[in-house]
Amino acid sequence: MTPEHSGRATPRWTREHASKIERTDETVVPIIYPPREDAAPEINGWDTWFLRERDGSIATVGGWRVIFSLTAPADLLPGKRHDVAEIRYFYSRDGETWFDGGPVFEGGTRGSRQWAGSALLDDDGRLYVFYTASGRAGEAEITYEQRLAVGSGGSVVADDDGVRIEGPFAHGVLLEPDGERYEREEQSRGMIYTFRDPWFFEDPRSGKTYLLFEANTPIPEGAGACGDPVWEEFNGSVGIAHSPTGDPTDWELCDPLLEGICVNQELERPHVVVRNGFYYLFVSSHDHTFAPGLEGPDGLYGFVADSLRGEYRPLNGSGLVLTNPANAPYQAYSWVAFSHREELLVSGFFNYYDLGGLTLDDVATLSPDEQRAKFGGTLAPTVRVALSGDRTRITGTLSHGRIPLESEELPDLPEERLAHREETRRGY
Ligand code: FRU
Repeated sequence: MTPEHSGRATPRWTREHASKIERTDETVVPIIYPPREDAAPEINGWDTWFLRERDGSIATVGGWRVIFSLTAPADLLPGKRHDVAEIRYFYSRDGETWFDGGPVFEGGTRGSRQWAGSALLDDDGRLYVFYTASGRAGEAEITYEQRLAVGSGGSVVADDDGVRIEGPFAHGVLLEPDGERYEREEQSRGMIYTFRDPWFFEDPRSGKTYLLFEANTPIPEGAGACGDPVWEEFNGSVGIAHSPTGDPTDWELCDPLLEGICVNQELERPHVVVRNGFYYLFVSSHDHTFAPGLEGPDGLYGFVADSLRGEYRPLNGSGLVLTNPANAPYQAYSWVAFSHREELLVSGFFNYYDLGGLTLDDVATLSPDEQRAKFGGTLAPTVRVALSGDRTRITGTLSHGRIPLESEELPDLPEERLAHREETRRGY
């Protein structure tokens, strides 16, 4: 524990907050329709992040934007994609049509496959791709160990034809759970263990360098942490590490930023957006990871504080910022919020649709062809959100995968609210 972080109570997402979760006009996005065209039909993509500069702004290299996605072959069952996930990059000039640049790494990665992360183009031009090393390289049977790792030293080369990410990358494990602040796999009593999704963040107020991640807080059996012992197995947290030197490969674990003990097991892909002096912390979570007695949909959940370490208050009283309609509850997931001028934009991936009331577990009972046909496997329409203090309101959507530059003015609202319905996807 670094001295500046000691002796502080970790902010909580409580059952009282979460009991207020409900779908409202402000939080439900419109139905997503499948794209008519697929420029990369052989690949499914899901969790996606942007190439960013140290101050968090979206990088442009020679006029191109670059995104990174977890990908798997589209002929694989979508439910199996996490077992083979590979990070590919895509680039775009207009922030809308994304061209496939291929796999980022040529080998040498940690883990048997790579899960979500973040990407930093540092001031000296060095590229750092943070990722979750899931399992162990070369393992005979797949395991679910998770460690935070980085591929560093690559470069981003751009010309008129596009972008190439070039190695060699040096791969290393940055952080493993300590068993005290952050649960190790063998301590896990819950259904899904997490120590993943590293997200680089430089605090604009202090200039300090952090890595956020998804984790769980260890709760020994009989600890009496919740009103019901079963709820204790739902112990999701947002972890944070500090780099004392600012070096993106040098980290020390700190106390968690937020805990959802007794509330939810998975606070996925945590990230922070700073606006008007407020710190907005966002996570994605699933309906099936809420503790018994609580009901929340697959959604983007958010919290606001006046400093990085909190005290965080749930946005809209409950935490729910954005969710899918009740009749298409799994149509999108794994959202990333980012600032765009006066508003907030939220990018996610197009997940399962046209399920006719089936749950995600039921999907496995469908024929392989049906499972593949009902998986979007691409970027979802970008969602526009108005943000005011601790309230949010969905105001409209943009086309699939649209990532505008800060300098770009978006069309006035609300005319384009449902514009994505008419859009054809023109790239990844
Ligand atoms: C969210 C997620 C991430 C993880 C990835 C694995 O969609 O669960 O937390 O890194 O998927 O595919």
